Amino acid sequence: MRAVTWQGPRKVSVDTVPDPRIEQPTDAIIKITSTNICGSDLHLYQPLAPFMSEGDVMGHEPMGVVQEVGSETGDLKVGDRVVIPFQISCGHCYMCDQTLYTQCETTQVKEMGTGAALFGFSKLYGEVPGGQAEYLRVPQAQFTHILVPEGAPDDRFVYLSDVLPTAYQAVEYATVPEGGTLVVLGLGPIGDMATRIAQTKPISRVIAVDLVPERLARARARGVEVVDLNEHDDDLGDVIREMTGGRGPDSVVDAVGMEAHGSPGASFIQKVAGLLPDVVARPLMEKAGVDRLAALYSAIDIVRRGGTVSLIGVYGGMMDPLPMMIMFDKQIQLRMGQANVKKWVPDIMPLLTDEDPLGVDSFATHRLPLDQAPHAYDIFQKKADGAVKIILKP
Ligand SMILES: NC(=O)c1ccc[n+]([C@@H]2O[C@H](COP(=O)([O-])OP(=O)(O)OC[C@H]3O[C@@H](n4cnc5c(N)ncnc54)[C@H](O)[C@@H]3O)[C@@H](O)[C@H]2O)c1
Ligand SMILES: [Zn+2]
Ligand SMILES: [Zn+2]
Repeated sequence: MRAVTWQGPRKVSVDTVPDPRIEQPTDAIIKITSTNICGSDLHLYQPLAPFMSEGDVMGHEPMGVVQEVGSETGDLKVGDRVVIPFQISCGHCYMCDQTLYTQCETTQVKEMGTGAALFGFSKLYGEVPGGQAEYLRVPQAQFTHILVPEGAPDDRFVYLSDVLPTAYQAVEYATVPEGGTLVVLGLGPIGDMATRIAQTKPISRVIAVDLVPERLARARARGVEVVDLNEHDDDLGDVIREMTGGRGPDSVVDAVGMEAHGSPGASFIQKVAGLLPDVVARPLMEKAGVDRLAALYSAIDIVRRGGTVSLIGVYGGMMDPLPMMIMFDKQIQLRMGQANVKKWVPDIMPLLTDEDPLGVDSFATHRLPLDQAPHAYDIFQKKADGAVKIILKP
């Protein structure tokens, strides 16, 4: 089959690789019909390069049709239309019982000390072949799928793999009080969708920050107040406090993560580590951290005293300096983590209707054949050509 493979920092290619087959009784094989590129793929594309191997199949936002099932995949049937969550979870362990699916004890990657295995996500998360391919082997398939109805096009449901539940968790973890104010940092797919989810809640004001004109315009067009970071790189906290009666917002979602613009400090470490041999680079990144913490620092600065910061952007460093005095003094509540995808699906499904309140049908800016993946990664990484969300079609 054809698949998008990692070939080195900032280099993916589309190659012929062996077809996946059933290896465990709990496996299923999915024929992929749509598969997205995510901001998280960009971390693998460059800063997390030392954890990748040449030939790794990328991707964790696929949907398609069940092609084959093992003998222990429950009710899943050949021909079912399914979206595959980015994390692999069993549905019956201690963590899954608490809907903490990203911590599944059956699939935790114990050698690396990380949570549930993820599709297409480097050695850190089990090096499981990903979904930017024609076919995908789904482990723990009895639970690792979301059944969706026939009829509407893939665009309606494909974001259930990641963007929708991630944005939903970001807003839930922000615990905005009724009538309160939420600031969303970053208007990539996750931040953009978080503003849309927030608009369905009893939140009175949603303010978003980014620096890419067309991303700001997309949010503004849907009634979000936007702040252009290009104009307020030095005084963002003051500007937002001014907009919120001098106090700051009740909650801040950081939907940026470690690719943040604005703190050059650690960027050279990423670059240097990307060029070093793995044996040298991996410990360096684990110890020194690969983070650029600009967005997190902004969130801590902006949020009102006693408010909540919800970190949904991914951070990967092990020794990052945090302003503990400010965090403690402001009595900030901090919540974070990978999204527990299936936990939020029952809340989201009623919003995926023909009325399309979240605008999912027109959310993608690009729909490209799988073979154009190298170009797609390039424009998404550079935020060129108006690329916000790209769906690849195998
Ligand atoms: N927790 C999860 O389960 C989960 C799931 C999916 C994605 N993510 C993470 O969420 C983050 C966003 O993903 P995405 O797909 O939207 O990616 P993205 O890279 O397209 O979006 C990031 C946006 O932040 C903007 N930005 C950069 N620096 C900023 C700053 N200092 N202040 C404000 N905005 C800034 C960028 O211009 C960009 O529009 C990534 O870190 C991704 O890994 C987390
Ligand atoms: Zn993703
Ligand atoms: Zn489990």
